[in-house]
Amino acid sequence: MEAKVLRVGFLGFGTVGRGAYKLLTRSPETLTRRCGAVLVPVRALVRDLSKDRGADVPPGFLTTDPAAVLEDPEIDIVIEAMGGVTAALKYSLGALRAGKNVVSANKDLIAEHGQELFAAAESSGADLLFEASVGGGIPIIRPLKQCLVGNHIDEVMGIVNGTTNYILTKMNAGNGGFGAALAEAQRMGYAEADPSSDVDGLDAARKVAILASVAFTSRVTFDHVYREGIAKVTAEDVKYARELGGTIKLLAIAREVDGAVEVRVHPAIIPQTHPLAGVGGVFNAIFVKGDAVGDLMFYGRGAGELPTASAVVGDVVEVARRLVSGNGSGNSGLSCTCYDEKPIRRMNDVHTQFYVRMVVADRPGVLASIASIFGAQRVSIASVIQKRKLENDAELVVVTHPVREGDAQEAIRQLRLLEAVTEVASVIRVEGFATA
Ligand code: NAP
Ligand code: HSE
Repeated sequence: MEAKVLRVGFLGFGTVGRGAYKLLTRSPETLTRRCGAVLVPVRALVRDLSKDRGADVPPGFLTTDPAAVLEDPEIDIVIEAMGGVTAALKYSLGALRAGKNVVSANKDLIAEHGQELFAAAESSGADLLFEASVGGGIPIIRPLKQCLVGNHIDEVMGIVNGTTNYILTKMNAGNGGFGAALAEAQRMGYAEADPSSDVDGLDAARKVAILASVAFTSRVTFDHVYREGIAKVTAEDVKYARELGGTIKLLAIAREVDGAVEVRVHPAIIPQTHPLAGVGGVFNAIFVKGDAVGDLMFYGRGAGELPTASAVVGDVVEVARRLVSGNGSGNSGLSCTCYDEKPIRRMNDVHTQFYVRMVVADRPGVLASIASIFGAQRVSIASVIQKRKLENDAELVVVTHPVREGDAQEAIRQLRLLEAVTEVASVIRVEGFATA
């Protein structure tokens, strides 16, 4: 029997779009054997026709007219790899409403407008798949939706931003402070000239919103995510974390606790023995706890042309298999799986340990007044270390037991007002240490 021909359009033909084109065209017969369809790239929307796209791109393939992709009735699958939100939303909705299946790599779009997009997909019977939007080439969305569907997922905790992981890895290797490590990340081409999306945790917040929605089958959007970046992490903190048996990572954490979802991105000290502690450089990893399967970790390249294209083409093939099988309902079980409406836990009600580094007056009674402030806020102290003697001051590092965030923050606010406390220099959450 002759294989069905499925035509693929692209919205965007930059790093990811071009990568997906390479994978679709390098051995088309192999993909046909794998999905039962001939996948034919036909058109790609770009802004600038004069850019060099490579000799393998046929004449007339590129267009600046969105309608050439969105209104071509022959196009079955659209790869959205343009980035940004406004135009990507408009075009993706246009494609879905026209019954075209959409494969997106765009975490900004999915994290902010997932609900609207999935509703459009559902009403036209199309699929919207988005494996590449989190963790680049790492399979995580489909494992959560398919392979792990028999579990109750308790926790998803990940390193989902390569740029910040590179910076923290450099700092951990003793290569100076945040500024020097960021400058090196920029020299290496990992961090952008304006690094704020990565460094301030926005990129990771979008990804964890998507992960939480999938893991807990309840819609979590970017605005639900508590977020802190890594710009305040110092070389001293990295050194002290090491002395405490830990390492500092920018973690994206999503948990379901008592029926509510907590979702946050911030630097955290994790034990050097934790599987995420060994994830270095620009690599990403996502650690999952399921009630049946136990602990799992998904590790790999979170960005880059071919790793990201690998996830995109995986989604394209998944859609193709559905179309070939004649299951035209659009309900592959991979699109929207937000069946529940779970509340989002307020950050103040989250429980975690804290590391607090302070510069304090070096005289009798100071430690007692600090301990009294923590005690009054029900913050139990796990350890106190006087780290360094400064000119007239001392540096104290306090690590708390797991405490309510709101209580810890109130204690820290009061410490800042204490005459004997010259500076609360760093506040970093501590995750994954065994507590008595
Ligand atoms: P990119 O290299 O900047 O490519 C974007 C493409 O979209 C370009 O071809 C650009 O056209 C086109 N484009 C952008 N806005 C357009 C508009 N308004 N009208 C028409 N064409 C437009 O971006 P990318 O790195 O491939 O990233 C694409 C998406 O994948 C983003 O959502 C990103 O977050 C996501 N992603 C990227 C990576 C990665 O490693 N790069 C990893 C995971 C996810 P011109 O070429 O003419 O400028
Ligand atoms: N800027 C991201 C990172 C890659 O540094 O991991 C794209 O999601």
